[in-house]
Formats: sequence, structure tokens, C-alpha cells
Amino acid sequence: MNLEKFERYPLTFGPTPIEHLPRLTETLGGKVQIYAKRDDCNSGLAMGGNKLRKLEYIVPDAIASNADTLVSIGGVQSNHTRMVAATAAKIGMKCVVVQESWVPHEDAVYDRVGNILLTRLMGADSRIVEDGFDIGIRKSWEEAIQSVKDAGGKPYGIPAGASVHKYGGLGYVGFAEEVRAQEAEMDTKFDYIIVCVVTGSTQAGMIVGFAADGRADKVIGIDASGTPGQTRDQVREIADNTADLVELGRKVRDDEIVILEQYAYPAYGVPSTETNEAIRLAARTEAMITDPVYEGKSMQGMIDLVKKGYFPDGSNVLYAHLGGAPALNGYAYTYRNG
Ligand SMILES: Cc1ncc(COP(=O)(O)O)c(C=O)c1O
Repeated sequence: MNLEKFERYPLTFGPTPIEHLPRLTETLGGKVQIYAKRDDCNSGLAMGGNKLRKLEYIVPDAIASNADTLVSIGGVQSNHTRMVAATAAKIGMKCVVVQESWVPHEDAVYDRVGNILLTRLMGADSRIVEDGFDIGIRKSWEEAIQSVKDAGGKPYGIPAGASVHKYGGLGYVGFAEEVRAQEAEMDTKFDYIIVCVVTGSTQAGMIVGFAADGRADKVIGIDASGTPGQTRDQVREIADNTADLVELGRKVRDDEIVILEQYAYPAYGVPSTETNEAIRLAARTEAMITDPVYEGKSMQGMIDLVKKGYFPDGSNVLYAHLGGAPALNGYAYTYRNG
């Protein structure tokens, strides 16, 4: 496998910490040890998160293209568009982000706080459109790219979640290499990795990265999209492309793409009672903040799997915390009493 041949523009602090979560471990029975890899704390850029690992491999291509404007897309409370806005500010480019109406929301301030507030603060031209949830290539995004051209600018397009970008999977190949190095330092081996999956390149990168030591099927994707067929197809496509890029030397097998679909209810961006219980439990045992769109659902999934005995006794489970806490501000009413 060869990741080193790709140029990386540093946007993160470096390797993210892995910490043991003793109180969560105990609360869930103590038979499975729970750890978290804190990609939510990976950078000083606008609160960080998983997208920066991906963008580190995309920025060199954007700079080489002589673009002057990054153009991307997500929901109104998109973490991804916040991270693209941050990257544009940091590298001195302009930024246009389309914010689709992916979530039926209740809060009066939903489109003014959290991610979108930070996005605007960093100078991005944030354009809200009415279209509903869809992780694929979107007309609104293509129109935004065209609008930059029409205004005499030079756009560089980054699709939703930076996922179906040709280099979108590379960052999380690096995550797997980092985990391997940390395992050697810690003298601990992780038996399972839990990861939230929506647009797919986080898990796809991990699958390719962990395929190198035969552990791809231990990467347990927890779907938060509510459209798992489309997510699975996207993971497959990105894994194939990324495996070719880094010269894995073989194709990722179907049984190495593990995505659990049963935690995304009632819909993308809408937490269930169980999601909220999981968010509260992580907050009250470990002060680890998870959000109702992504990490709250993967936390819910992990807790349920531990309770159901999915992981054999004595397993070490690594929860990949990918960020997303700013979105909580858009759910102030839901959590008004904690
Ligand atoms: C906080 C957070 N967690 C998980 C995900 C899912 O990652 P991916 O879209 O690469 O599947 C995202 C982005 O979509 C995210 O912002």
C-alpha cells in the first residue's frame, strides 16, 4: 500500500489521541473495553472534524488547479461545509457553499447557529436552497460551480462530504495507518472500529486502510443517512477507487463492507429517543459530546451492540469520533432540559 506518494497539505494537528473511556465501559457492563479516537479534536480550524483529514489530500489538487474559489455542498447544519469554509479561509481562497434543506427542523434558530454561523463567520458565501436530503451529485452544486465561472472566478468543486472526489478516501487510509502505529505504542490491539457513515469516504478509506492488515470487516459502519443502499454503493465505489490509488493490490470484498442500517431512524438529522439517550450517556459519563445527526447515532449503535453481546467479552472497541458537535446548537429545543 502506498499513501506516501500523495501530497498532503497539513490542516490538522497531527495524529489524534486515543483515549480509554472507563466510565462508559463500566456503565455498559465492563466486559468490552471502549476507547475513542478523537478526530473531533484534530485541528484548530473552526472546531475540526473528519473532513479535514480528507481535505488534506484534496487541497494540493485545488491549489495546482489555480482555482480561486472552493465550491461545496451539504445540509443547512453541514459540518462539511464548515470545514470547506475553514480550509478556504486558511489557504486564502474564496468559498461558496450550497446548504440544502436536508433536515425537517423545529428550532427557530436552526439556520443561524452552529455550523452555518461559523461558516458565515469565516466569510463563505452560504446559499440556502430548498432541496431535500440526497448524498449524490446535486444540480444545486453544479449551478453554484457555474455561477462562480459566470462571475469570472475559477471554481474548484468538492462534492458532499468530500466523498466522491477522486482523493476523498485517502485521508482515512491514513487514519488506519495512524491507528496501527498507536496500537504498537500502546501495546493494545483494537478488535473493532465503530464509524458513522453517510456520504461514505470515511468508512471507505478505513476499509482500504485496514484491509492492509486483514481487518476491514472489523470496521463497523453505523448508517446515519436513512438511505443505506445509496450509502453502501458510494462506499463500494470510493473503496474501489481508493484501493486502486494506494495500490492495495486486490479488490475490497463485499463482506468487508459492513454497514448496520438499524440506527438511522426516524430520518437523517432527526434523533430518536435512543439517539438522545446515547448522547446523554456519553456526555454524563465521559463529557464526550456527540451530535444528533452523526455521532449520536453511531454512539447509539455502539451502545446497543455492546448490550446485545455483538462484541465477544474482552474485546477492545475503538469509537471513531468524527466531530459534529456544533450542530447541537440547532437542536437547542430538544436538549433544553439536558
Ligand atoms: C460529524 C460527522 N460524522 C460522520 C460523518 C459521516 O462521514 P461520511 O460522510 O464520510 O460517511 C460526517 C459527514 O457526513 C460528519 O460530519
